[in-house]
Amino acid sequence: MNGLQAVQTTINGRATVAEPVLRPRRIRISPALRRMVRETALSPSDFIYPLFVRHGQGERRPISSMPGQFQLSVDELAKEAESVLELGIPAVLLFGIPAEKDWCGSDNFSPYGVVPEAIRALKEAAPELIVISDMCFCEYTDHGHCGIINSPMVDGYNTALPEGYLLNDPTLELLGRASVVHAEAGADIIAPSAMLDGMVGSIRGALDEAGLEHVPILSYAAKYASSFYGPFREAAESPPSFGDRSQYQMDPANRREALKEVALDVAEGADMIMVKPALPYLDVLAAVREEFKLPTAAYQVSGEYAMLHAAAANGWLDLERCALESLTSIKRAGADMILTYFAKDAARWLAGRQ
Ligand code: PBG
Repeated sequence: MNGLQAVQTTINGRATVAEPVLRPRRIRISPALRRMVRETALSPSDFIYPLFVRHGQGERRPISSMPGQFQLSVDELAKEAESVLELGIPAVLLFGIPAEKDWCGSDNFSPYGVVPEAIRALKEAAPELIVISDMCFCEYTDHGHCGIINSPMVDGYNTALPEGYLLNDPTLELLGRASVVHAEAGADIIAPSAMLDGMVGSIRGALDEAGLEHVPILSYAAKYASSFYGPFREAAESPPSFGDRSQYQMDPANRREALKEVALDVAEGADMIMVKPALPYLDVLAAVREEFKLPTAAYQVSGEYAMLHAAAANGWLDLERCALESLTSIKRAGADMILTYFAKDAARWLAGRQ
């Protein structure tokens, strides 16, 4: 008899199934035993906490679709940094909401732009906190797209390309410029999130040329055109004024294409790679983690956060348990790092469980 079969017994001449030989439940009998055999353990050091920064003083503007998250002014951000570090979270990711938006997103490459100011303040308040700069133009352009849009009104207008098309190569130059400005302000990591062709290579080139060869790139390598970014667009005040991002972000239906996108970013010099969103794309995350040997991040995006909060607010789900289960699943699927709005709450919940 092989161990996978149950013992067959005969009662009144009829074969019945009874007494399994193998009992996986033996190692689930107590919390201590379950903890001993647990394959995946979450820790605050897995988390990267995204923060939204705006100009002003003493501002903490709640983001209604993301309960517990705020747009913070630079001074408030510095206070936030201390509590993030105290909880054992190693890094934050910065998004800027500029005072003025324009056709080319100039606040993003101004040394006095909102993010460079925030980086300097954070580095002063908490030098050991890792500051990651989200590198994209959608928060900075008046049309809300992730770069320069082809139109007779703009520098770089290309008559061969359709009007309304996102101009890839002229935008690369600006991404390089902005990356240098952010790195010079003290950003520890540049995280390009625009899904433009060649963005990692051109940012690497710009950083190296500026003598910033030590600054790593965390590429949003497989980023999907996801509707789960909905709440973020309110948070960052960055909804596109026309169309959507499907011409540059990936089609949610594609998995093989993610491997191609990641391979290109790796070849262009990405030091770390990211899959985004997280929970609806765990198959992609697992495939990327398997194929590439780089540190791999997953971004639990605004919609994933908002869904759990909305269900919990209705009394339909237990927020703490569901959030920790989601984060554990993301780690189990292969994430070395998780960008999550739950970072602070999850760090507290984990501390309460030990
Ligand atoms: C910027 C950017 C976005 C997000 C992260 N970086 C928005 C977008 O691509 O539309 C989404 C984050 C979230 O939903 O939490 N390009």
